[in-house]
Amino acid sequence: ILPVDKSVRRLESHPSIQEAASMLRNGEVVAFPTETVYGLGADALSDAAINKIYLAKGRPADNPLIVHLSDRDQISEYVTSVSEKARRLMKAFWPGPLTLVLEHSGKLSAQVTANLSTVAVRIPDHPVALALITAANRPIAAPSANTSGRPSPTAAAHVYDDLKGRIPAIVDGGVTGVGVESTVVDCTADQVMILRPGGITKEAIEAVVGEVTIDPALAQRTGTATSVAPKSPGMKYTHYAPDAPLVLIDGGVAFFQDQVTKAMNTGKKTGVLVSAELDDYIQADKKVIVGSRENLSTVAGALYESLRAFKANEVDIIFSEVFPETELGVAIMNRLYKAAGNQMISEQK
Ligand code: TXA
Ligand code: MG
Repeated sequence: ILPVDKSVRRLESHPSIQEAASMLRNGEVVAFPTETVYGLGADALSDAAINKIYLAKGRPADNPLIVHLSDRDQISEYVTSVSEKARRLMKAFWPGPLTLVLEHSGKLSAQVTANLSTVAVRIPDHPVALALITAANRPIAAPSANTSGRPSPTAAAHVYDDLKGRIPAIVDGGVTGVGVESTVVDCTADQVMILRPGGITKEAIEAVVGEVTIDPALAQRTGTATSVAPKSPGMKYTHYAPDAPLVLIDGGVAFFQDQVTKAMNTGKKTGVLVSAELDDYIQADKKVIVGSRENLSTVAGALYESLRAFKANEVDIIFSEVFPETELGVAIMNRLYKAAGNQMISEQK
């Protein structure tokens, strides 16, 4: 573990950054913080280095990686063209949690793009990530630094729990801020399409480029047996699963408590994931508070850590509150539906 205090000046010459950068240049994988979640980085120009990412995570080979840059000028090297709308999005949201899918120029490792004609790119808004990419002097491919299928890591300890013994180093820059991953948008056609909801909301994107569409596959709540394949390969896989089955509860507090009590009465140890607003109304064997409904960025920030907080030996089943599907709530509910394998119990109204 290579500790870095993100507030120090001239981070690029910090010994931890120097060491991590030299590992990246030597074809090793290194985990590092971004403003969304920790990433598992490797040199995006090297097939051998990128292979190590897929191996360490147990990631399916058909799921391409996001390429992280530290400077806008680097992009022209790796993509064939940047549309006017894409340019406006970069200007508005970079550095930040927005990933653009563009046609690539063929210079990156084909493993990064899983042999697609497009590449996903972003500039992260985190001083440690930016210093590391700059010091490595390479485009850095980085998926979330979790074992495939687990909740994404928002602290170095989560990376350690998942990948210890499988990767040589973690740059520890403290807990990440946004908590959910970047929004992925397809900018290869004139009509911008959201492929994965994330830290930048649809509303914010539309304020910059006008109306955008959402990949229709995202509206299906039918697990992996979808009839329409999502355009973003990663969206078809099971994701974010906690150590015990998760069920979403769509209803009032009395209905919610009823579901928990019923499970308790069958001898199950119960866990609940609720906002601070529901704290007084819901009792269970283990309760984790996931931010405040009044401020969905607190829910996003705490979501993955909260899912990781339930251990298999502690609870047999977890019940979670649901959140309004507007603004950041869209990304939060996308992750919760996936974590629950789409299991939801709704109150008849
Ligand atoms: O916030 C984030 O985006 C984090 C941090 C580390 O930057 N990274 C991240 O990477 O979430 P990952 O690999 O867990 O998710 C990348 C997503 C996947 O759903 C993948 O299928 C999609 O982006 N993706 C990558 N390249 C693509 C492409 N060329 N076309 C469509 N989707 C693509
Ligand atoms: Mg991921």
